[in-house]
Amino acid sequence: MKVVICPTAERATALTARVIEQALRARPDIALGLATGRTMEAVYGHLVKAHRDGGLDFSACRTFNLDEYVGIAPTSPRSYRTYMNTHLFSRVNVPLDATHVPDGMATDMQAQCAAYEKAMRDSGGLGLQLLGLGENGHIGFNEPLSSLTSRTRLVTLDPATRRQNVGMFDDDLEQVPHHAVTMGVGTIADARRTLMVVTGATKAGILARVIEGPVTAGISATILQMHPDCLVIVDEAAAANLSCRPYIEYLMQHDPELKALLS
Ligand code: GLP
Repeated sequence: MKVVICPTAERATALTARVIEQALRARPDIALGLATGRTMEAVYGHLVKAHRDGGLDFSACRTFNLDEYVGIAPTSPRSYRTYMNTHLFSRVNVPLDATHVPDGMATDMQAQCAAYEKAMRDSGGLGLQLLGLGENGHIGFNEPLSSLTSRTRLVTLDPATRRQNVGMFDDDLEQVPHHAVTMGVGTIADARRTLMVVTGATKAGILARVIEGPVTAGISATILQMHPDCLVIVDEAAAANLSCRPYIEYLMQHDPELKALLS
């Protein structure tokens, strides 16, 4: 795992977008694993800018989103499908039929999950998986106790997650679904590269446990410690509780890969 601490959330999300841009330029037909949440809105804003001003070409890539709420139709303004169309897909030149988001209304959820896994395999596997971090340490919607080898499946949301995401539901907790469909921890771990971006003081406590604590199914993001190619980009506020910070800063100056990224 490599960690970069940026002075601001703006710099962290811009750098995250730059890593995705470099991956897409290096391999235009890459299969990208994508994420949702407030943090990602800025990341996608930077990618849209790179498309408009820098000619970043999405025409050959394929995308697979991490998750979707069960019971929310793709056309609903609250679906992650709508989120993705709004923040990225309708603003760059990715063909819509190359974008995949689980369907929260699928009648046979198990069949959908198996088909989603197959579609990722058929696309050659995820070249890069973008990740945010839930306040309970989840990636995707892999809530505490998710098996570290889990695959795409139906899950029951942690009440903490429902509260964290109430903003998308007019601040009405009753309206937040109780279930979701999510790529599994094992699915995410299979991506060739993983890229997590974490900003804000509310994530400082959980981020320290993700980076420095023991690997545990209680915090699904700790699987990233086992990943051979994981980059974590954070802002100052999120980095506040990291005890290995001096070494992280040393690596930012001396690790060849990080030096190249930050130059
Ligand atoms: C949701 C998503 C996660 C995301 C998390 C963080 O729970 N399922 O994939 O990482 O939100 O969201 P935010 O960036 O809004 O803190």
